[in-house]
Amino acid sequence: MEPTVAILGSGAMGTILAGGLLRAGWQPDDIVMAARRAEQAEHAERLTGIRTILDPAAAASGRDVVVIAVKPKDVPALLDQVADVITPEQVVVSLAAGVPLAVFEAAMPQVPVIRAMPNTPSAVDEGMTAYCSGAHATDEAREKAAAVLGAVGRTIGLSEDLLDAVTAVSGTGPAYVFLLAEAMTEAAIREGLPHHAAEMLVHQTLRGAGRLLSESGKSAFRLRGEVTSPGGTTAAAMHVLEEGGFRALMEDAIRAAAARSRELGAIARGEETSR
Ligand SMILES: NC(=O)c1ccc[n+]([C@@H]2O[C@H](COP(=O)([O-])OP(=O)(O)OC[C@H]3O[C@@H](n4cnc5c(N)ncnc54)[C@H](OP(=O)(O)O)[C@@H]3O)[C@@H](O)[C@H]2O)c1
Repeated sequence: MEPTVAILGSGAMGTILAGGLLRAGWQPDDIVMAARRAEQAEHAERLTGIRTILDPAAAASGRDVVVIAVKPKDVPALLDQVADVITPEQVVVSLAAGVPLAVFEAAMPQVPVIRAMPNTPSAVDEGMTAYCSGAHATDEAREKAAAVLGAVGRTIGLSEDLLDAVTAVSGTGPAYVFLLAEAMTEAAIREGLPHHAAEMLVHQTLRGAGRLLSESGKSAFRLRGEVTSPGGTTAAAMHVLEEGGFRALMEDAIRAAAARSRELGAIARGEETSR
């Protein structure tokens, strides 16, 4: 039987997860969401068909899995509201970027806590979620959390010190691909293609290349080699990208995102930072 779920916070991520759970076979009665404004509750309920209430403690009470889907800055106030009703038989799954396991464990001693970093392709059930487990998370707790998170894509368990790197790679990653899509579309239009054709060529190429990469069992290096013949068109393009520092730029971008994630984590822990 699917674990019952409370989703505290019914914004972008909360409603994406709720939709994914329904598509994965959860019944609407097995899920409840919480909002802090009546207008937001009505909107979320209309969008998902899932009961959305204004009392997060009532929503969390007795549910197998309690998902924290509010902005990191709203976590302390939410914990004040719900910590007393959450028991060690439940599992807390936090999606709040940068908020350490320790924050939840301090508020709810003995409660199993899972900290997760999902990404937006979860909206089409193609998400990538990495998670780490707190000190009281048993295998059973991890399984329940992974079942919920796995409703919207793939999951992987990692140690907490790797979550900043995860944020920079898969959390932020969709934006790298969207920027690539924008740049390719603009260049295609400059080469004379009509706007709608340029978009279709780029979108389907990214989709097809992504599926090939994940389903062929071949490495990115090998797949790239297969479309690159000596002296050909791909070789000409690859030469420009390599000469222009594409790899180094990507490395710098990921390093900057990871560094920013560490800074935001320090702010969430209430530590001093230079910014
Ligand atoms: N979006 C992403 O790509 C992404 C990716 C990975 C992780 N995350 C994480 O997911 C979490 C949610 O992000 P989001 O983009 O979904 O934010 P969001 O759209 O702002 O949704 C958060 C919702 O929580 C509500 N809320 C705040 N405090 C509450 C409380 N005490 N009780 C009930 N509801 C409360 C907010 O109410 P109001 O409407 O009144 O503000 C808002 O509707 C964040 O911690 C973020 O770090 C997001």
